[in-house]
Amino acid sequence: MFKLVTLFVLCALTSAWGWQGHDSVVLVAKEFFDPMTIKYTDLLLKDSKYDIVKSSTWADVVKNALPWSKPSHYANSDEKHVDNNGTCGKFSDENQTDPLFNIIAAITNYTERADCHRRQPLDFTQRLEALKFLLHYVGDITQPLHVCGRNKGGNDDKVTFGNKKTNLHAVWDSNIIEKRISEISQNTTNEQHVRDYGKYLAKQLRGRQGVYADADSWVSSIRTKFNKFNSRKSWVVPIEWAQDSNGIDCTVVWPSYLEDPTQDLSLKYYEDAKYIIDLQIAKAGYRLATLLNKLYYACRRFV
Ligand SMILES: *[C@@H]1O[C@H](CO)[C@@H](O)[C@H](O)[C@H]1NC(C)=O
Ligand SMILES: *[C@@H]1O[C@H](CO)[C@@H](O)[C@H](O)[C@H]1NC(C)=O
Ligand SMILES: *[C@@H]1O[C@H](CO)[C@@H](O)[C@H](O)[C@H]1NC(C)=O
Ligand SMILES: *[C@@H]1O[C@H](CO)[C@@H](O)[C@H](O)[C@H]1NC(C)=O
Repeated sequence: MFKLVTLFVLCALTSAWGWQGHDSVVLVAKEFFDPMTIKYTDLLLKDSKYDIVKSSTWADVVKNALPWSKPSHYANSDEKHVDNNGTCGKFSDENQTDPLFNIIAAITNYTERADCHRRQPLDFTQRLEALKFLLHYVGDITQPLHVCGRNKGGNDDKVTFGNKKTNLHAVWDSNIIEKRISEISQNTTNEQHVRDYGKYLAKQLRGRQGVYADADSWVSSIRTKFNKFNSRKSWVVPIEWAQDSNGIDCTVVWPSYLEDPTQDLSLKYYEDAKYIIDLQIAKAGYRLATLLNKLYYACRRFV
């Protein structure tokens, strides 16, 4: 059993925003939860081994047990409309929302499944599952390389970050954020660093200064819309989140790297990227809180 757990933890560290990224997203979100969201998520997680922050990486842990969920962690930009050799493309095809397995379809799916407004709510286990997938995917969709078809989202680009040999995808999942977190927090343990970082971003959000002044526009995709395919009402248009993140691939992620693929990405590249990481984590946290507040507003009958 212990060996199994260790293996799961290792898997979680090597895919998607690392645990630091995913935990930070939920730490930011928690700062903006409505009282009903707090009450209801506490209820859903009451028998879980992990609290809401530590549940953020559950979707990575179950990847091998639920292989059908693997493609739901990312989306490739539409191959028919690719610009710049696949660096950034377009998510212009509404059909991506259904029935394909990708992150866009998955967020639509679990939003519907988590929704307390449903006339026939799903059972407890399924509502818990929907929460745990949303905690994760609303984070992943803000990672620019999770919505980019080029070289498997940068997994095939071997790079250097400080004294580490890694790949471009992993740099954006983990290396930049780990360095950023230790820069923001003076604390000594990893867990404390991450909590400080979450607090730091929540403070920026509340201040609404600089790029954070746009925070209301980050959540404008959370609105009611009828899903083209199944005519069910959906609370979110996640394709707009994919487009937003994908734009960063063309402005920063790829061009600054391709200038010199042999550069140490922990130097100049990092200095530009760290502000984008802050912004993307803050966005994900704020979106997650806004979405859950909408879905769980109607949960009174369960609590
Ligand atoms: C497109 O990318 C591939 C592999 O990344 C490369 O070999 C090719 O030269 C690129 N083409 C253009 C037009 O940039
Ligand atoms: C979406 O799918 C429908 C039905 O398969 C098809 O008729 C339509 O052309 C597709 N839309 C796009 C933009 O590809
Ligand atoms: C929607 O969620 C259910 C339950 O996890 C799953 O069986 C189904 O495959 C999901 N569909 C998509 C498109 O993600
Ligand atoms: C570090 O941790 C301590 C104790 O948990 C906390 O009081 C403090 O606010 C944290 N942050 C910084 C930047 O010291």
